[in-house]
Formats: sequence, C-alpha cells, structure tokens
Amino acid sequence: MSSLLITNIGELTTNDELLGEGLGGRLHDAAVVIDGARVAWVGPAAQAPDADERFDAAGRALLPGWVDSHTHLVFAGDRTAEFEARMAGEAYAAGGINVTMSATRAASDAELEANLVRLIGESRRGGTTTIETKTGYGLTVEDELRSAVVAGRQVDAVTFLGAHVVPAGQDPDAYLDLVTGPMLDAVAPHVSAVDVFCETGAFDEAASARVLDAAAAKGLATRVHGNQLGHGPGVRLAVAHGSLSVDHLGFLDDADIDALAGSWSAARGTVATVLPACDLSTRMPLAPARRLVDAGAVLAIASNCNPGTSYTSSMGFCVATAVLQMGLTIQEAVRAATLGGAIALGMDHDGWLDPRGTVQPAVGVIRAGARADLQLLEAPSATHLAYRPGMSLTAAVWRAGERVA
Ligand code: NIG
Repeated sequence: MSSLLITNIGELTTNDELLGEGLGGRLHDAAVVIDGARVAWVGPAAQAPDADERFDAAGRALLPGWVDSHTHLVFAGDRTAEFEARMAGEAYAAGGINVTMSATRAASDAELEANLVRLIGESRRGGTTTIETKTGYGLTVEDELRSAVVAGRQVDAVTFLGAHVVPAGQDPDAYLDLVTGPMLDAVAPHVSAVDVFCETGAFDEAASARVLDAAAAKGLATRVHGNQLGHGPGVRLAVAHGSLSVDHLGFLDDADIDALAGSWSAARGTVATVLPACDLSTRMPLAPARRLVDAGAVLAIASNCNPGTSYTSSMGFCVATAVLQMGLTIQEAVRAATLGGAIALGMDHDGWLDPRGTVQPAVGVIRAGARADLQLLEAPSATHLAYRPGMSLTAAVWRAGERVA
C-alpha cells in the first residue's frame, strides 16, 4: 500500500486538542500523511515527511469524514404522499412505519441491498465515511434477520430495531415476546446494538425497559429513540440502562438534560444525539442542542436518513441547521457530527469490530493511527458549511485511505 501526503491544508480540524487549537484541535497551513488505511502523520506543512504520492489541498479545509450514527437505510418504497400530507398540516405519527414495512417485506434481498448501496453512495459523496444503520422495517424474524445481514455487508455498524412499532393488527404483548425472544436470538449475531422506539404509539416505558434488558442479557449495547413526539421516559431509561445514546430529544425537561450531562461524571455516559433534518421534516421542535452542550452533555449530530421522517443523508445540511437554528458554534457542530457520532457508536478508540469482524482503528479524529477518513471542503474553512448553507462543498473524500468521492 502506498502513502499519500495531503499538503497545503488551509484549515485542518483534527478533533484532538493536543494537536491544535480549540475544540476542533485546529491547525493552519497543515499537512496529513496517510499510510494504507490509517493516518500516519499530522502537523505543519513545512515539517511534513515525504510520501509516495502528493495531493495539494490548495488552501482548502480538511476535516474528519462525517460519522452518521443514526440512519434507517434498509428499506424499500416511498412515502412522498405522507410527506405532502404533513406539509399540508397533518402531524407525523409512527403508523407510517407500517407502509415502509410492507414495501420492505415485499422486496428481495438484492433490491434492499441495491437501495442501501445507492443511499450509501449519496452519503459518501456528501463527506460521510462512517455509517450506522438500523433494521426495523421488516418486523418479522425472517425480515429483520435479512435486513441485518444485508446491512452488515455494507455499513460500519448495524443496530437491531425490531422494537420500532408493533406491526398493524398484531397483539402488542405477543409482539414484545417475539422481539425480546426469537427475533433477538436470530438477529443478535449480526448486530452490535439494540434500539427501541420509546414513544406513545410505539413502546411504553415498561415495554422499552424489557427490550433494553433483553439486549443487555445478550451482551449487546443499547440505544433509545426518545422524546421525539412528546415528553416521555426515553432519556431517563437510556441513562439508567447505560445506553450508548438516546436520539431525537425534541422534548426535554431540565431533569433529562441534567441526567444526560451527569451520565458522564463518573464513567462513559449516554450520548445525546440530535437529528436536525428530522426535526425540520416532521415540523417538530428542534432539539435543545445549545442547552445540552452548555449543561455538559456529549452531543452527536446524525442525519436519521429514512423514508418517513428525514429523507436526507446530508450531514452538511444537519451541521448548518445545528449552527443556524440550534445555536451551536461551527466547532461544536462539526465535532458533534464527527467525534460525537464516533463516541455514540463506541468507535472513538482503536479496536472496535465492524460487522464483517474486522478490527478497526478510531474514527472521528485525524491523528496518527486513526482510520484515514477525511473530507476536503471546497472552502477555506469549516465555517463555510454554515456560512454557505445548501451549497455542495465536498471536494474530496477518503475512507480508510481510499479516495471514495
Ligand atoms: O427515527 N422514530 C422512529 N423511527 C424513525 C422514523 C421511521 C419512519 O417514520 O419510517 C425516526 O424518525
């Protein structure tokens, strides 16, 4: 494998405060050397070592590839009509999941995988280099299993979301027995985490707790979809169960915010994942990202790309929204969409296992030893992501050292 020197970087965001200034660990007039799949060297361009090949960044900004820690990409079908109805004033309700479920069950594995690959391609072209995705549109043992297997061939992390909704016409208690029993047994070897949609119309507190306990009994990490459509027990449950993240967070009280911040006081806590594109697309209140950061919570920003509530994988759009409408600084938003996502996925350190069983280096940072996941912007600084909202600013993307866009 050959090495590559990327030099003449106008602004380099490393996310390592030992390497550069401020929250982003920023350097100016910098260079990065990639060797194989990993970063080999980071520092001032004037001191850069030689490499086999050279790339001139021409004064543009380089930052870690986006880490999209919440998506639902294994699906078939389309929900344009539901979106139109919502824009005409109808409220989002979880029942739309049944529409995607029917289309997903009817699709072949090859069709599901082709759609997944198409969406991953869109995501890569927007600068995303790490993708988590969930099952949750199959909702039978067979369809959840094939969703997990298809996803495991393509993404960095697969989460089991059999507890998405109770399929229309099924008995809730019987379905919960299925999800926490035979369905979890079948899917467990193919996933690294289990998620539950803890919400009115989906799973209540007791049912959600059962899902989280069943996951823990299998040695799987957990996540929670919480506080999306109204205030509820999602955050409290996630923190009490030591979940890696709780996602959505449009409806939080002070106790929720304190619980999320406090979860980091003694040990690794629960990441607060906000989903700005989903908040906009469902016309729900924006999650209080500013208050979460001020309280000391660890924040991630993700796209929540799915056909119902957020049909975009543009992390650049999410970052711009987090800055322009949620009140974050650019450095806070970029960190949340890179290192924050990595922490939410347990990938901010070397040695995590991808779904193919390959041991991987840390993502979300640019430092020697980390996976060489980098995005070059067609701009002199990351500030342009919010300063020029809606513009396509991705100039080049490397994933594990390979140029992918
Ligand atoms: O994260 N909230 C639950 N799940 C998805 C939406 C799924 C859908 O409506 O298809 C979400 O928004």
